[in-house]
Amino acid sequence: MCGIVGYLGRNKASEILVEGLSKLEYRGYDSAGIAVLDEGKIDVNKCKGRLANLESKISNKTVKGSLGIGHTRWATHGEPSDVNSHPHTNEAGTIAVVHNGIIENYIELREWLISEGYNFKSQTDTEVIPHLVDYYYNGDLLDAFIKATKKLSGSYAIGIICKDEPNKLIAVRKDSPLIVGVGEEESFIASDIPAILNHTRDIYLLEDNEFVIIDNNGIKILNSDKEEIKKEIFHVTWDANSAEKGGYDHFMLKEIHEQPKAVKDTLAGRITLGEKVKLDDVKISKEELESINRVYIVACGTAYNAGVVGKSILEKTIKLPVETDIASEFRYREPIIDKNTLMIVLSQSGETADTLAAIRLAKENNARVLAITNVVGSSIAREADDVLYTWAGPEIAVASTKAYVTQIITLYIVALYIAEMKGTMTEEEINEIKEGLLGLSDKIATIFKYEDEIKAIAESNKDKEDMYYLGRGLDYAVAMEGSLKTKEISYIHSEAYAAGELKHGTIALIEEGTPVIALATQENLFEKTVSNVREVSTRGAKVLGIAMEGHDTIEKVVDNVIYIPRVSPILAPVLSVVPLQLFSYHIAKARGCDIDKPRNLAKAVTVE
Ligand code: G6P
Repeated sequence: MCGIVGYLGRNKASEILVEGLSKLEYRGYDSAGIAVLDEGKIDVNKCKGRLANLESKISNKTVKGSLGIGHTRWATHGEPSDVNSHPHTNEAGTIAVVHNGIIENYIELREWLISEGYNFKSQTDTEVIPHLVDYYYNGDLLDAFIKATKKLSGSYAIGIICKDEPNKLIAVRKDSPLIVGVGEEESFIASDIPAILNHTRDIYLLEDNEFVIIDNNGIKILNSDKEEIKKEIFHVTWDANSAEKGGYDHFMLKEIHEQPKAVKDTLAGRITLGEKVKLDDVKISKEELESINRVYIVACGTAYNAGVVGKSILEKTIKLPVETDIASEFRYREPIIDKNTLMIVLSQSGETADTLAAIRLAKENNARVLAITNVVGSSIAREADDVLYTWAGPEIAVASTKAYVTQIITLYIVALYIAEMKGTMTEEEINEIKEGLLGLSDKIATIFKYEDEIKAIAESNKDKEDMYYLGRGLDYAVAMEGSLKTKEISYIHSEAYAAGELKHGTIALIEEGTPVIALATQENLFEKTVSNVREVSTRGAKVLGIAMEGHDTIEKVVDNVIYIPRVSPILAPVLSVVPLQLFSYHIAKARGCDIDKPRNLAKAVTVE
């Protein structure tokens, strides 16, 4: 995830910025840069790769200025490269900007600015910001910056400096975190607390649409009408280690809690009510889509489980046969692939060797390949014909959570895109799903209120050796992911079963106290699932049910139940997986497992 640091004080800004950025390295990044106001001009140094590359670039320079901004970039728009790295400037190099988040309307703004005579160097969404500020600048940076931000839609935390106002650092936030550090005759901005902990523990937490102006008179926080806002100082008591995790005990838990934002970001600019789905990087034409008669979804691990959800979503919406395959199996089963085949590959890392091999096989046989990945410029992104990025931000815990959820979100987006082009759904049906999608972020957040209850249930199961997850249809697909989460982080043996299939063998394993997690969110399958749950509960299973609010008849056959908010059944996987992630997390924690780095597992598997 991108990281911002900004400084105005008495010391050498370049050193403080680089040190601050180093404290944000844990967030993941692909390039870094700083801009320092030095001897009447803004000196920008930035490059692709590790922070060490930036350090060696500036090591033989004497940048003495004490005002500057710095950034570590996690690419979303445009591959990792020197030119795409932040800070970005206006053409004259008098205004420099760092930005976290996504500017949804950057294409329109870019076109408009080009028509006004501006030239762009990078492929980023961010570069519109310094040009916009330049457009409005009339000797008052704050005024120009406020006008520019009024033109932006999307999420942003932005830091800005200007050569002509040499003792001023301005920043704003909207839907992207930003804090202000209060030091002794020095002030900071940062996207996260660890960046400034070596200098101060006193911070202001900015709210959306609040601007901070740091100058020689100190710190002022204003709203967009330039009215001053009084804020309490928040004194940080966390140590550096827990500050990195935002106060959570593990990255996995932090990432589970980041899912509302990850979902919102991934939908941003792509799904808007009353408008057609917008996909910048997907170039497949209507004619090409018309010719597709078969779809494969190919992936590994958690991404494969997202693909199983994807099969149901696509079949219901685009009315074509869809097969989901494990990448390491796909190549060896002589799949039927031709120019009428669409292959969708899912990969969080974009580097999984088996998935890459499957792409190559598909391309040799003239299929069209669409990649869904979280890493811009990764091997899978480069080799596919079309790419759609999940905007989950980097995932640090090995066990995938927010990447899985955003992969499913992206599959809905693809499904609606194809359905709109091919006319396989009515406008009303499409709008209903769009509306549902836009409400998911808030609905995920409401599930967190059950966390204590889920934790207590998890703790009571910590000494179990085996567990079973049951579900039908989309619930079965989610059960597979729940079961995988439990296995990989708690080391408890767990299996997912299609609820109707259990009685054909596996039910022999159910005995007094066997834990069963039963998903029953699908309206049309609810009664049938309840009957299957009864089959295990009467044999002694201790059942945790996951159902939609209002389906309280499930309480007759389960020991505990967690309700997810009501949503169209096709969207339920994004909600129902959340209690399963929390359940797995809390069991693993109760068992004392190394949650963020489970034994024998790797985040990216680059061997076949
Ligand atoms: C590894 C990871 C899993 C992941 C799988 C596929 O096994 O531990 O969490 O689901 O690889 O990775 P990908 O990067 O292709 O999604």
